[in-house]
Amino acid sequence: MLGKVAVVGAGNVGATAAQRLAEKNLARTVVMIDVAEGIPQGKALDQWQSGPIEGFDTRVVGGQSYDDAAGAEVFVVTAGIARKPGMSRDDLVRTNAGIVRSVSEQIARVAPQSIIVVVSNPLDVMCYVAMKASGFPRERVIGMAGVLDTARYRTFLADAAGVSVEDIQAMVLGGHGDTMVPLISCTTVSGIPITQFIDRARLDEIVTRTRNGGAEIVAFLKTGSAYYAPSAAAVQMVEAIALDKRRILPCSAWLQGEYGLRDVFCGVPCQLGRGGLERIIEVTLTDTERQDLVKSAEAVRATQATVDA
Ligand code: NAI
Ligand code: 2OP
Repeated sequence: MLGKVAVVGAGNVGATAAQRLAEKNLARTVVMIDVAEGIPQGKALDQWQSGPIEGFDTRVVGGQSYDDAAGAEVFVVTAGIARKPGMSRDDLVRTNAGIVRSVSEQIARVAPQSIIVVVSNPLDVMCYVAMKASGFPRERVIGMAGVLDTARYRTFLADAAGVSVEDIQAMVLGGHGDTMVPLISCTTVSGIPITQFIDRARLDEIVTRTRNGGAEIVAFLKTGSAYYAPSAAAVQMVEAIALDKRRILPCSAWLQGEYGLRDVFCGVPCQLGRGGLERIIEVTLTDTERQDLVKSAEAVRATQATVDA
């Protein structure tokens, strides 16, 4: 168990993540920070009072000051805004980059040895902003997207194959967007190639649905985006770090030559433990998967360049 985990942004993803962290007893204290006066305080108090029912002793607190998060071992950054009518994608990038930059500077001030798990969108570019603003090494700035995208993929595959989600092993790599790369060549049902269960045409439909996974939910919710699966995904990453599990999960990492890519954040298989990003695993890809991964990384790089401008 960690001493303190902080969640920045007490909105849908942040507050649900805080609740999940407490319910899993991953830290003695969970701190929620948000600019909205009273919101993190109220949500934290409500969550803390669920402890006797859910059986956790984690103290959940909330506020506006980063001083409450001093010394936290892990930060989950969910602060940001969603795209509004009339806003271009670049406007969103600029606004959220400003938010993630100021959040990351505060994190570096109060917890210089912490690990940052970035959730804010556009995910891979916000990881870049967080790494630059915090000055942290790549081992301590990791993005959440692949765990979520893979969970969506596994859900649809299990449904189509008529098997338990627990028996689907899969990875979705690449940037968190339309260009993400579900690896069919690495997808198995308990080690048996997925192609023995689902034909290629159905697999292609599942890949498309996975790529549109976030948009499918926004179309229903209309005023917000997904948060149950995203918060579960972020907490799975925190759990791997807190319990030093050395799990291999698809995460956005700063690539330095892996997969032939350099100086770009992109989703790849990462080993997570108490040190944060402990290893990047290079799997053998088909030619098409490799080309798709490069294309996806280059799409991230193009947006990444706009925040340096
Ligand atoms: P939300 O709107 O419910 O919550 C965002 C919160 O951030 C708000 O409470 C707001 O007051 C707070 N905030 C804004 N500026 C802040 C600042 N400077 N400091 C601290 N808090 C600040 O949004 P939601 O649904 O929780 O999503 C949060 C972010 O996560 C969005 O950027 C969203 O696109 C992203 N997201 C990413 C996913 C991924 O796979 N990486 C999945 C789901 C969401
Ligand atoms: C999602 O994939 C909005 O990035 C978010 O649901």
